[in-house]
Amino acid sequence: MTKIFLISGNLKITAMPGKHTFSMIKPKAVKNMHIGRIINDILNAGFQLRAMKYTRLTTEQAKKFYAVHKERPFYNDLVKFMTSGPIVAFLLEKENAVEDFRKLIGNTDPKKAEKGTIRAKYAESLQENAIHGSDSDDNAKIESDFFFSEMDKY
Ligand code: RTP
Ligand code: MG
Repeated sequence: MTKIFLISGNLKITAMPGKHTFSMIKPKAVKNMHIGRIINDILNAGFQLRAMKYTRLTTEQAKKFYAVHKERPFYNDLVKFMTSGPIVAFLLEKENAVEDFRKLIGNTDPKKAEKGTIRAKYAESLQENAIHGSDSDDNAKIESDFFFSEMDKY
């Protein structure tokens, strides 16, 4: 979505949406060996890989990554789940990256996710929903900086 800002009531500046988003294949989808199929879907949707890392989150890292949810009842279970096995992190590039990627992964709850989306195809439950996607350009930057240094990027 294009953002329009009004300055002094009449000057319009148009900010185009960013070209980058951050994603992470969650432990259950890694365990179920969906990595190859998910990367294939991401590439087929027109995203380019700029960085990728197979790693495991510490409890401290998972808590920090999902700190926005720390007051929610599912926070502790989410942190436990996200540290239960390895994850695969990505920095991805495409026009309108954040919005297009959220469409590609589908609704947070795989039962409600549109047919053909990554969560509909590969997720088992709301919590273990296969994949994360940044929800804003600002968070895409914060989250990719959390995982990747400049040396990691293509
Ligand atoms: P994500 O941040 O992982 O891309 O997911 P999202 O934006 O679609 O959903 P969000 O509301 O940010 O929730 C973050 C993750 O927490 C888990 N969750 N569990 N048990 C529950 O009720 C519940 N609700 C959310 C999911 O793993 C969700 O993706
Ligand atoms: Mg979220």
